Amino acid sequence: MTKDAVIAILKNQTEYLSGEKISKSLGISRAAVNAAIQMLRREGYDIASSTNRGYLLNHAPDSLNMGDLLALLPARRMETVLCLDTVDSTNSRLRDMAQNGAPEGQIVLANEQTEGRGRMGRRFSSPREKGIYLSVLLRPKGAPADATALTAWTAVAVSNAVENVCGVRPGIKWVNDLVMGARKICGILTEMSIEGENGHIQFVIVGIGLNVNRRPFEFPPEIQDTATSLLTETGHPYARALLAAEVIKELDRLRSEWPGESKKYWDAYCNSSLTVGKEVRILSGGMERTGFATAITEQFGLRVRFPNGKAETVIGGEVSVRGS
Ligand code: BTN
Repeated sequence: MTKDAVIAILKNQTEYLSGEKISKSLGISRAAVNAAIQMLRREGYDIASSTNRGYLLNHAPDSLNMGDLLALLPARRMETVLCLDTVDSTNSRLRDMAQNGAPEGQIVLANEQTEGRGRMGRRFSSPREKGIYLSVLLRPKGAPADATALTAWTAVAVSNAVENVCGVRPGIKWVNDLVMGARKICGILTEMSIEGENGHIQFVIVGIGLNVNRRPFEFPPEIQDTATSLLTETGHPYARALLAAEVIKELDRLRSEWPGESKKYWDAYCNSSLTVGKEVRILSGGMERTGFATAITEQFGLRVRFPNGKAETVIGGEVSVRGS
């Protein structure tokens, strides 16, 4: 869309830029530039204009759209990024696209999800403009058992992005929760499609839900004690487009490093682990057990010692740290 291209240009500009230069660089008419500027102003962009000098972006709202991302990522990368205003679930939308041949690395993100999904069939609360709701399509060669590692690698990738933008690194609760101040700021939902004949992975969709500019009372009452946001934990609001672009860059790095750089991700994961060395409660197959988490295995399973002295590697189910 023209306005996406116009805002991408203005965001990378610190001086006034003439309407003529904008129209030339985009190959559109001056009238089209003017119409795009009016549209952007209606969306909350504060764009100054001066008869002789042109346009200058004074302030951008915390918007997250194709234009904002185009200012932060190469145009080539943006060819496989779809940024929606609202969607039922970015994972569901990307699944449809994957079934229709979308390429490895395709991203779907949205300002709001009306039916955001969490693990264990739970809902993931995803209100408008408060977080990053983003899914990436992977087509790895490998076995379904790799899902745990992919989820763990993603936890590291998102932690890197948060650290790059906010200067603080979240902890990781096995296997997929990013935590700050003992509360969850991000969840990851990994879903996969398996080839019927050979049991190989057809594709994997990794969905990331990161709470960004959300105040405590904006969470549903039932999760107010367990959920938090970057705003609450650091005291600063963040530009979601900047964070989303950083997450995409880190996911691209993950894709290029999978599976060879496992040791690097394993080290980073272990350093951030909030589960190892704690009493844990494990829910799986309708059974609840308690034990002591002793280590993360190289495949990112959780090594647990049980009161009877036996040890086991847990690779799925729900694990909570006792007393938190
Ligand atoms: C969890 O903690 O239970 C996982 C939450 C995953 C939420 C993300 S938001 C983007 C993607 N789309 C969804 O419907 N869910 C994931």
